[in-house]
Amino acid sequence: MSKRNDAFFKEKKPWSIVKDELLACYFKPYVTKILTTHKPLVYVDGFAGKGKFEDGNNGSPLIALDIVNECVSATSVISSSITAYFIDLNYADDLHKNLPQQNRVIIISGAYEDTIENILSQKEGCNIFLYIDPYGIKALQHSLFKTFAKRAFNSIELLINLNSFGFIREACHVLGKDYAKDMENDFFDDLVEYDTTEFDTSAKSIEELSAIAGGDYWIKIINEYKSGKYNGYEAEKIFADQYYKKLQESYQYVLNMPLRIKQGQRPKYRMVHATNHPDGCILMADNICTRWESWQNIQKDRQPGLFEEDHEENIIDSDRIKKDLCTLLPSFTKETQINIFLAEFFSKYGPYCKSGIINGVIKGMEQNTEVVIRRNPSKTPTGKPSGFLSFDNEKQAYIRSAT
Ligand SMILES: C[S@@+](CC[C@H](N)C(=O)[O-])C[C@H]1O[C@@H](n2cnc3c(N)ncnc32)[C@H](O)[C@@H]1O
Repeated sequence: MSKRNDAFFKEKKPWSIVKDELLACYFKPYVTKILTTHKPLVYVDGFAGKGKFEDGNNGSPLIALDIVNECVSATSVISSSITAYFIDLNYADDLHKNLPQQNRVIIISGAYEDTIENILSQKEGCNIFLYIDPYGIKALQHSLFKTFAKRAFNSIELLINLNSFGFIREACHVLGKDYAKDMENDFFDDLVEYDTTEFDTSAKSIEELSAIAGGDYWIKIINEYKSGKYNGYEAEKIFADQYYKKLQESYQYVLNMPLRIKQGQRPKYRMVHATNHPDGCILMADNICTRWESWQNIQKDRQPGLFEEDHEENIIDSDRIKKDLCTLLPSFTKETQINIFLAEFFSKYGPYCKSGIINGVIKGMEQNTEVVIRRNPSKTPTGKPSGFLSFDNEKQAYIRSAT
């Protein structure tokens, strides 16, 4: 498959719809909130595509721009400054045709990895949102993500389409293992975005894969997979877990969001959300849970299940949430803002249910004096004890372990 992959833009496929919904549903509350920081927002779509699919559907650039325009007209913040950069190696001309001519829109013809540092230079003090949606894995240089985290931006968030299965397939190729053999026959068939890049068995390819992964930990995973310790799906999951841990060295909250578009189907790729802001992490965790519920609901052949399941097909019940809370709480001996605690929870255990459900379990534990919550204000306007579990300018809840 060539890097141009023109067929991709003929018709918008379910995987692209799912990804764009995830972006859109997060981006609107994100922009609304970020405008209240009174600091400029710099949005970068690093692999923008054509802007529009040939079947008339909007691509990620138009989806983001519609949201930006909507938020700017709705906000009461006067000094709202938003610049949106759209980079594409092949389709800058299409972007010029398909995107509105606005001062805030900047189209760049070139490679993300060659242009991004220049775009982000002199953006200190700004809020940065990077949407990274490549076909394959080759352009995902970990060192760039690490560098951005160290810059003095007001905030930075990354939403990355991580083709972890593609990574494992290439890694097997490099280390001499036939990966696809133990995958379901049609596994890669509808992964139209897959870019079969040219990794070979050379030391250079090993270096390139380590640069993408942010280390050489993947070699051990592939060698253990080769020795039969686990199957291809397990190898991918272990790789993804370690990839997230690597990113957590630079970003405080990293969410692992495996995407399936049908119940019972294995995830085919993962979206990664990285931020240093607890509210951003919680917003994205709630967003993926809402998206997952609606994707389940639109499946025509869906049989109602007895239990609610998360996107990794684990059963969600309050016992599981409580068990995870009890494991996490002992490290919170000092009072901590509730939003920071929740973001740590999602970052550690994954966004497997909405924050409201976790709050319900925390309240039960509070009643059993298994956890201590302090609220400011401690009383409601009518003099009753406050029960909120949120943290903002008006209301602040703090949590700590009971022991
Ligand atoms: C999966 S598509 C993006 C689709 C887009 N997010 C949308 O919703 O319409 C990947 C795009 O990356 C572009 N591309 C490939 N390599 C690139 C690179 N190194 N830098 C920037 N763009 C690249 C391709 O031309 C293609 O348009």
